[in-house]
Amino acid sequence: MVVIVTGGAGFIGSNFVFYMIEKHPDYRIICLDKLTYAGNLSTLKPVINNENFRFVKADICDRNAVDKLFEEEHPDIVVNFAAESHVDRSIENPEVFLRTNIIGTEVLMDVCRKHGIKRYHQISTDEVYGDLPLDRPDLFFTENTPIHTSSPYSSSKAGADLLVLAYYRTYGLPVTISRCSNNYGPYHFPEKLIPLMIANALNDKPLPVYGEGINVRDWLYVEDHCRAIDLIIHNGKEGEVYNVGGHNEMKNIDIVKLICKELNKPESLITYVTDRKGHDMRYAIDPTKIYNELGWLPKTKFDDGIKKTIKWYLENREWWEDIISGEYQNYYEKMYSER
Ligand code: NAD
Ligand code: TYD
Repeated sequence: MVVIVTGGAGFIGSNFVFYMIEKHPDYRIICLDKLTYAGNLSTLKPVINNENFRFVKADICDRNAVDKLFEEEHPDIVVNFAAESHVDRSIENPEVFLRTNIIGTEVLMDVCRKHGIKRYHQISTDEVYGDLPLDRPDLFFTENTPIHTSSPYSSSKAGADLLVLAYYRTYGLPVTISRCSNNYGPYHFPEKLIPLMIANALNDKPLPVYGEGINVRDWLYVEDHCRAIDLIIHNGKEGEVYNVGGHNEMKNIDIVKLICKELNKPESLITYVTDRKGHDMRYAIDPTKIYNELGWLPKTKFDDGIKKTIKWYLENREWWEDIISGEYQNYYEKMYSER
């Protein structure tokens, strides 16, 4: 099998590349990534010299580059992680989100149609369902929950999902979609909640909690997500959507307090800052379908996953210190200085 993984130099994509190389040593894994601010070639160091792995720097919106790669490699499966992924950035500058997340998906699927493919898998997000109220813990997102987005990010992901389903119905492209809840684990870019709080706490910097910190996210260890994707691309039904999540809802403030405790840092570092515009209150996935159809269940409990993650950030300071010492400084200044 030849598998193209787009966005494989980012957080979840790189974890998926590692997972696939380990799980299917006979597969050829090709990572196509533009290396935006969020992509990091050094992340792929552990596999870069593996003979069954190839890295190609390209933009998924670049039709000629994608076409050339397909001509060279004849992929069986394409898994599309490539995206602009940060809600706060989408609020500042929506345009690149529409370009990469929607047009990029269209270009990839057009090339898949031209060359023929066994499976195109779209990595989507639970954020396409919008949010749930805090006072209705009985409600969860199922695959039938209406699309109802809040941010330019989630809207661009929803637009892509609709296009993927349209390519299935109109052209018969063999597609699947997974909609996962918030991931955490190694190589998570330090602009997102968990790695940002770990990095700031380790540097004794303020921990900026939006609003009152009562928003709820449903956290899943990244390896559990990778295992779900592997199951879907091999055994999932064409044209279907699968929700992925582990019934692990937590308030932001509780996560930040837990990080302080694990790192032995004072809670006085916590600083409440102006809320995110349009901030989604609660995400919560009902993963019954993927359990019933594919037997998927998460394996890593949050208590263990967060310890492993913190340990990884302690042992891999160079990786994230390199990131936060560069262009990230300007981003941080812009997003947090007057918040
Ligand atoms: P990320 O921002 O860490 O990585 C994105 C990767 O895509 C980077 O390597 C970047 O260089 C690459 N990329 C961006 N634009 C590109 C383009 N035009 N062409 C080629 N490559 C490009 O993102 P992530 O957190 O790993 O998320 C991966 C996917 O999973 C996204 O589609 C996201 O919507 C989805 N998702 C993320 C989460 C989460 O908690 N992080 C949860 C559910 C779904
Ligand atoms: P984030 O990691 O950006 O993921 P998403 O918005 O896609 O769920 O944020 C997770 C939650 O943490 C979200 O409710 C916003 C909040 N948050 C903060 O309180 N402070 C921060 O500095 C960041 C980045 C996020």
